[in-house]
Amino acid sequence: MSTSTSLPTVTVIGAGNIGSAVATIALKAGSSVQVLTRDPAKAAAVSPEVTPGSIGDPITGDLVVLALPYAALDEVLAAYPDGLAGKVVVDPTNPIDFETLDSVITPAGSSAAAQLAARLTGASVVKAFNTNFAATLASGTTGDAPTAVLIASDDADAKAALSSIVTAAGLRVIDVGALKRAHELEAIGSVQIGLALSEQTPWTGGFEILS
Ligand SMILES: NC(=O)c1ccc[n+]([C@@H]2O[C@H](COP(=O)([O-])OP(=O)(O)OC[C@H]3O[C@@H](n4cnc5c(N)ncnc54)[C@H](OP(=O)(O)O)[C@@H]3O)[C@@H](O)[C@H]2O)c1
Repeated sequence: MSTSTSLPTVTVIGAGNIGSAVATIALKAGSSVQVLTRDPAKAAAVSPEVTPGSIGDPITGDLVVLALPYAALDEVLAAYPDGLAGKVVVDPTNPIDFETLDSVITPAGSSAAAQLAARLTGASVVKAFNTNFAATLASGTTGDAPTAVLIASDDADAKAALSSIVTAAGLRVIDVGALKRAHELEAIGSVQIGLALSEQTPWTGGFEILS
């Protein structure tokens, strides 16, 4: 696959369900993609087209996708003492209590994305992908509808950068507004996970905005 010089480059940290799906989207768009994991063999397994590496390696991407459990963010970010300054940091996490599946574990009114923005003051944080199950990103459909990626950020340029990749890969983007909307997006993600885990909805479905 050729790499487009007009698209931002991407680093994905984490190579599980969502990391693999987002890396695949970025490759499909034509971006250059670096994947970093604790075990670089898992990064390499995502695709022969990614540049694999270990967490702590220098980050090459303009966009950095934190495809990690919420609980792992502190540990992973400690490996980057510059606070990912100058990067667009994409946060797909759903900070829910996986023991009870009954609550979002960030403080009331806050969000994982808001916490990241407070910590990574030199970066631009975008909430994205947390309302999309990985399978719906890979297939491009949520149930029978085209998958839409809901994004929120205070930085219009950061949203445009991420949108350029998502739309080049053939998916829809819906801009839900400022980063404070991450609070509502994480609530939607929490409910959606609960529905799938209780087998009321499939992992190939979920909430979707129809147009
Ligand atoms: N799955 C979905 O459909 C989906 C949808 C929307 C949002 N999300 C969110 O996306 C995030 C990732 O979910 P996922 O389903 O992709 O999880 P996953 O399949 O379990 O993958 C998690 C990734 O994080 C890495 N990781 C875990 N703990 C780590 C640590 N302490 N230090 C460094 N790396 C660590 C894992 O590496 P190892 O292999 O080394 O453990 C793996 O690469 C979560 O916040 C989730 O809520 C998921």
